[in-house]
Amino acid sequence: MTEFNDLQWAKPEYTQEYRDSADVYIVERKRLLEILKSFYKHFNSNKRNSSILDLGCGDGIVIDELLKIDNSIEATLIDGSEDMLNRAKDRLKDFKNVHFIRASFQELLNKTTLLQNYDFIVSSLAIHHLTMEEKTVLFRTIYSHLKVDGYFLNIDVVLAPSDALEQWYLLLWKQWIDERKSFLGIEGGHYEDIVWKYKDNADNKPDVLTAQLNLLQAIGFKDVDCFYKYGIFTMYGGKK
Ligand SMILES: C[S@@+](CC[C@H](N)C(=O)[O-])C[C@H]1O[C@@H](n2cnc3c(N)ncnc32)[C@H](O)[C@@H]1O
Repeated sequence: MTEFNDLQWAKPEYTQEYRDSADVYIVERKRLLEILKSFYKHFNSNKRNSSILDLGCGDGIVIDELLKIDNSIEATLIDGSEDMLNRAKDRLKDFKNVHFIRASFQELLNKTTLLQNYDFIVSSLAIHHLTMEEKTVLFRTIYSHLKVDGYFLNIDVVLAPSDALEQWYLLLWKQWIDERKSFLGIEGGHYEDIVWKYKDNADNKPDVLTAQLNLLQAIGFKDVDCFYKYGIFTMYGGKK
C-alpha cells in the first residue's frame, strides 16, 4: 500500500510548486470549477447546511468555490499534507462550519480516521495517486459514507485506453499549457517538461476512465457518468 510520507506531496517545496503553477498547467481549471459549481447548484442547493467532504483538499480551492455559492455548507477537508491543510485553514478562516483533518487516504482505508455521513463527497486531482486496488476500497468507503441521494464527484486525471490516444492527449495537454503561457505572458522553457514529469512520476497511478465508471456502478452508484473530459482531464461521479 502507498505510504503518504513516501509521496512527493509530503514535501512542502512540492506542494508550494503545485500552488504556484496549477493555474498554468491544470487544463481548464477555472471551467472545471464552474462545472462543479453548476453540478452542486443543480443537485444539492435546495438543502441548507449540506455536509460536504473534500478528499485531498490541497489549499481548499474546491470548498472555497462551493462556499461562494452556498455559505451554509458544513465542510470537512482532508489532506495528508500538513502544509496544504495550513494553507486551506488560512484560505477558509472566515467560515465557521469548516473542519480540517490531517489524514492520508490510506488511514481512511484502514479506518483509523473516522468519517461521518455526507450529502456530497468531492475530490480534485488526488485519487489518481492510489492504485486501482486502493481506489476500489476508497470508492466503497465513499459510498458507505454518502447519505442516500448524495453525490460523489471526482475531478481527476485518467489513463488513456491506448498508446495512440495517450500520445494525442498529452499533445493536447502540452498545447493547452502553451496557450495558457502565452495568455499569461509567461516566456521561456518553464513548464516545458510538466507533461513528461507527470508521466515519469511513480506517485501518479491513473487508471482508465471506463474501469473507474464500471467500478462505481458495481459498487452501487446510480447516474454514473463522465461529466467533462479534455484529454486525460476528467470529471466523473455518481449518486448513492
Ligand atoms: C494535485 S493536489 C490537488 C489539491 C486540490 N484538491 C486542488 O484541486 O487543487 C493533490 C492533493 O492530494 C493530496 N494527496 C495526495 N495523495 C494523498 C494521500 N494518499 N492521502 C491524502 N492526501 C493525498 C496532496 O497532499 C495534495 O494536497
